[in-house]
Amino acid sequence: MRIAVLVSGTGTLLEAMLEAGLPIALVVSDRPCRGVTLADDAGIAALIHERTDFSDSFDRSAYTDGLITHLKSHEIDVVAMAGFGTVLGESIFQAMPGRIINTHPALLPSFPGWHGVRDALAYGVKVTGCTIHVATAVVDDGPILAQEAVDVLDEDDESALHERIKTVERRLYIETLATIVDRGYVLTP
Ligand code: GRF
Repeated sequence: MRIAVLVSGTGTLLEAMLEAGLPIALVVSDRPCRGVTLADDAGIAALIHERTDFSDSFDRSAYTDGLITHLKSHEIDVVAMAGFGTVLGESIFQAMPGRIINTHPALLPSFPGWHGVRDALAYGVKVTGCTIHVATAVVDDGPILAQEAVDVLDEDDESALHERIKTVERRLYIETLATIVDRGYVLTP
């Protein structure tokens, strides 16, 4: 199985995946970021499919189609989103149905969206966590593969809570992907 990892940020999830020896064949980023350096250092193909337009007129379909071309040319079976900052268009979910995985730093269906940690904290929940799920065209939706709870502490701010959630994600996402690799498919053969 050939996995592509999509990154935008600090890439600690990618780092954990690389350390775990998952069969990562490609790393794609939408901007220059640490993830690309990590891939280069590990000798794994990496490319920046750069997003230059952050306005309302961003051509999401064209951007997504360009990404699909890269995935096809690297013969990718499964895509693992790991803190990727661009919402992808519908075409990728048609091109690779059920084969795009995401992790979200909250217990879905609660607190979807870019600020899942902040929103959970602001709501005053005592328990939050992370969700590994099959991604669909609806952001932070789709069949749940794994979830784990993380207690919210009285002294938590967004960054402290997110770091504890990420510690869990770095284990749970890797375990989930390793299971997928072992059985050779995500939800159905
Ligand atoms: C993770 O918490 C993920 O759920 C969220 O972005 C974070 C990625 O962290 N979407 P990193 O860039 O891998 O350190």
